[in-house]
Amino acid sequence: MTESFTVSFKKEVIQIVENGNIILQSPKRKLTLHRWNPGIQTALKSLAYSNHTLDQLRHLVIKNDGLEGLFKFNYYFQKFINLGWICHSVSPLATAIPIAEDYLFNCVNVDWQQQSFSISRFAYFHQSKKQMVLESPLSKAKLILFDWRGAALISKLSEPQTCTSLISGIPNITEIIAQQFIQLLLATKMLSIEDKNPHLVQWEFHDLLFHSRSRAGKHDNPLGVTYRFVNKIKPLPVVKNQTSDKIIELYKPDLKYLAKTDTSLTQVLESRRSIRNYDTTAITIQQLGELLYRCARIKKIIKYDMGETSQRPYPAGGALYELEIYPVINSCDGLESGLYYYQPLEHNLYKISEVNNHVETLLKKACNSSGNHDVPQILLVITARFSRIFWKYQTIGYSLILKHVGVLYQTLYLVATAMKLAPCALGTGDSDLFAKVAGINYYEESSVGEFILGSLKQKDSKI
Ligand SMILES: Cc1cc2nc3c(=O)[nH]c(=O)nc-3n(C[C@H](O)[C@H](O)[C@H](O)COP(=O)(O)O)c2cc1C
Repeated sequence: MTESFTVSFKKEVIQIVENGNIILQSPKRKLTLHRWNPGIQTALKSLAYSNHTLDQLRHLVIKNDGLEGLFKFNYYFQKFINLGWICHSVSPLATAIPIAEDYLFNCVNVDWQQQSFSISRFAYFHQSKKQMVLESPLSKAKLILFDWRGAALISKLSEPQTCTSLISGIPNITEIIAQQFIQLLLATKMLSIEDKNPHLVQWEFHDLLFHSRSRAGKHDNPLGVTYRFVNKIKPLPVVKNQTSDKIIELYKPDLKYLAKTDTSLTQVLESRRSIRNYDTTAITIQQLGELLYRCARIKKIIKYDMGETSQRPYPAGGALYELEIYPVINSCDGLESGLYYYQPLEHNLYKISEVNNHVETLLKKACNSSGNHDVPQILLVITARFSRIFWKYQTIGYSLILKHVGVLYQTLYLVATAMKLAPCALGTGDSDLFAKVAGINYYEESSVGEFILGSLKQKDSKI
């Protein structure tokens, strides 16, 4: 069955003859064939242009080089597959292009009369470079669909289909072509196999896609620092341009004094707890000021050719610091209720809005997330200004942001514990609602974390 696919090199694989050796090269790999026979060279040339099946290439090699040449060719061809260099195509429907190394393309025996097939719940269609592409986090290939019939077949595979039922209503697709197409989908792990794999049962579509695409190994997208928007989009400044006619100066603690008197790191780590009920006396504006100063202020701004970075108490990838903090105040001694923005350079609060229905809903939802304990005295909504990260990093951008949220959570936990406050991280929040309340564009800046805070009851004070 393998033989019925046409096979070709990926476009990025180039071949040259140098000092009597054939050199094959992709952006990441180089392979030198020292001793080669004319049949192999002809086969390699036709792999660059395709339209040949593997069977046809093998015949070509045998004709020129005999059986010994065939063994060599088979060995090299398997190596090319493993390197992710070989595309398999089914005319007129689709081609499978490898997107990672350690690639396998194994065909299995199928009882075409009995077996039915359906598309994996992890597979997805999207448009890329004016082509319809089928991808899946389970697959190390992407399928380019040549015409609408490929898409129609995939759509029919949302329900189990035999080859016979699959082609009904699809013009000019024979059962043989449908069988080749199914083999292509099977070999690239696009068909449903999750029922047989207990490790896949708990994975949700978006989680597995995010996991596989934000780490190296299962794709060939550029990963890490690429600065792909240089000269196209201006980098965002380190400090957000926020305006308000109500600016509240915050208290700055005496760090030298704290360094002498603060609870030890071990005591803080050992006594830290998530606390969701508060004392009857509310947290104060001075405590909020101290917490924000100790956790999140800008200590220094550094300007580079490639934009601005800063130094703050917590670490962040590339020192880009895309996270912003918006305190939602329910009850805080010395501060009116409402929504504020924390300006980390000036160490000020900018008032954004009074309490309204939306602000109350944010507090209510935070209370729900905490298991319906006390309504938080303060809810810190953490947003990300995405472009700060996306401008520099590719593929890992969003996962970096979520890691930063964790770093900030722990910093808030530890400082709040040292300050004898009641802290608790939250795992859920409504980014759409927050964008509306704060007047920010969801795709430019959205909430990515929530942290609740209040005064500590005497009985919870264990330090
Ligand atoms: C990322 C993260 C998300 C959390 N989400 C919630 C949440 O939604 N609701 C809640 O009540 N607690 C939440 N917590 C607090 C955990 O329940 C708590 O840390 C855990 O039970 C261990 O207890 P401890 O913090 O007192 O040591 C979260 C903690 C973290 C770090």
